[in-house]
Amino acid sequence: MATLTDLGFCQNTIYETIICTFNFDGQLNAAPMGVTINGRQQVILTVYNSAETLKNLQIIKAATLNLTGNIDFYYKSALKNGDLPVNWFEKSVFVNAPKLKAADAIIAVLVEGFEPVDAMRTKVTCNVEHVEALKMYPQAYCRAMSAVLEAIIHATRIKALVNVEAEQVHVAKLYSLIQNCIDVVNRSAPNSHYAELMVDLQEKVDSWRLKFEGLH
Ligand SMILES: Cc1cc2nc3c(=O)[nH]c(=O)nc-3n(C[C@H](O)[C@H](O)[C@H](O)COP(=O)(O)O)c2cc1C
Repeated sequence: MATLTDLGFCQNTIYETIICTFNFDGQLNAAPMGVTINGRQQVILTVYNSAETLKNLQIIKAATLNLTGNIDFYYKSALKNGDLPVNWFEKSVFVNAPKLKAADAIIAVLVEGFEPVDAMRTKVTCNVEHVEALKMYPQAYCRAMSAVLEAIIHATRIKALVNVEAEQVHVAKLYSLIQNCIDVVNRSAPNSHYAELMVDLQEKVDSWRLKFEGLH
């Protein structure tokens, strides 16, 4: 079995994954979440209390953490416009959770415990049950991937805060960070799939902000 170290995990570093869980009635869910490692056999997540993922972890106590460089998995699972394509997933044989069929590596985990971080977030400690990894060619690196990922994170915060009057300065800052990400994408990958996603993302964020402004 591969280890977390084989997958490049080091201490004190946050790695982005897609966490897949089942809810109480067996419906699958997926969301991008950062994880850190705690020794060789534990991972730690910090999850917003509003996240569906946290509820599922509290009830089912199992998940898979899927490593992927495919930006579409991040985009769809972060912003959840419509259902996630069920054919992207299958059940893990190691834990009671779905996994991404096309992931580069899959870490099956069981929840060990929960601890509040602050009023909004909970630390979740998980024990690693199994690690499976593809043997694959090294992937060429383009800055647009990180820029889109960064923009998606900002967009998830805007979605959560856009209707809160007291958070409008924060929302404006996040919006301007997204504009920087768009510049990077347009310079490093113009007319690419990354650029298409950014056009779509910008439209979504603009529509949330317009809807909020329309209410005032
Ligand atoms: C790259 C990336 C990393 C993220 N990391 C976290 C995280 O560590 N914790 C968290 O609560 N949300 C994180 N988010 C935001 C969630 O993925 C997002 O709010 C999602 O809609 C939550 O889905 P859920 O309600 O189904 O759990 C991240 C988003 C992205 C794009």
